[in-house]
Amino acid sequence: MTEPRLHHLLSIEDLSAETIKAVLQKSQEFIDSKHYINGAEKVLSGKTLINLFFENSTRTRVSFELAAKRLGADVVNVDIATSAVSKGESLLDTVYTLQAMHSDFLVIRHKKDHTANFIAEHTEPNLRIINAGDGTRAHPSQALIDMLTIQQHKTDFANLTVAIVGDINHSRVARSDISALQKLQIGELRLVGPERFLPQDLPGAHFNDMEQGLEGADVIMLLRLQRERMLEAEIPDLMSYFQNYGLTEERLKLARPDAIVMHPGPINRGVGLSNEVADCKQSLILDQVRNGIAVRMAILSS
Ligand code: CP
Repeated sequence: MTEPRLHHLLSIEDLSAETIKAVLQKSQEFIDSKHYINGAEKVLSGKTLINLFFENSTRTRVSFELAAKRLGADVVNVDIATSAVSKGESLLDTVYTLQAMHSDFLVIRHKKDHTANFIAEHTEPNLRIINAGDGTRAHPSQALIDMLTIQQHKTDFANLTVAIVGDINHSRVARSDISALQKLQIGELRLVGPERFLPQDLPGAHFNDMEQGLEGADVIMLLRLQRERMLEAEIPDLMSYFQNYGLTEERLKLARPDAIVMHPGPINRGVGLSNEVADCKQSLILDQVRNGIAVRMAILSS
């Protein structure tokens, strides 16, 4: 397989299936060689990566930092709360300021859809823009992590039934995962959740009944209730949500015996899943976190 060629990473839709597969292969090489833990050839020596996160993050921000450092780059984390944004500096002026400091990668998370594309259109071509999540639209690096995690446990996407469960409406991870699964020619895609969380324009079979949606699934991808993106009236009662859509050990038995359970995080125990499921052998939630460093090394070095 040829080396993946990436410049910006704005959305999964921009990538071919071949590019996705090449990024996954490169990520797996970083894992197999343990370079994702011990460090790799310093191909980014002399380069600077800036993390510009307008929304909170643990996994994405830290793993982009670790990935860049493993490859020899300098990393700067901008603290939005103490930055000049609080004095009224606009998004673009903030970005132009960071660009003037000769940064090479700008990793950006923002609550507004298409922010990463907007910035890519307004900056110099040599500044690589990485979308670390914009609005409800795209979180491409998370989708690549999720595809790698599936690939590590299942042989053929075409023979898999994947059930994505939860608040799909507000989820940029779901949209990027769906796009990646389609590019990799997934066998069967199911979206499972309350009617109001299942956008009609998204593909796949829609299930409001959790038990039916899980029946015979190979992969269960859980999503958090994104309460910060909901109006007060939209927020469900958490206990009744868990009763209807929480993944419990009982419900997990409806899926295939070798089904894997995934969640991009952060997880909310007792809301989207039980403690027992979060910590069970079928749960790959922390594998996804570990894969995050390798995938982000592959993205930055491609
Ligand atoms: N999955 C994910 O994006 O997690 P963080 O919000 O912690 O980055």
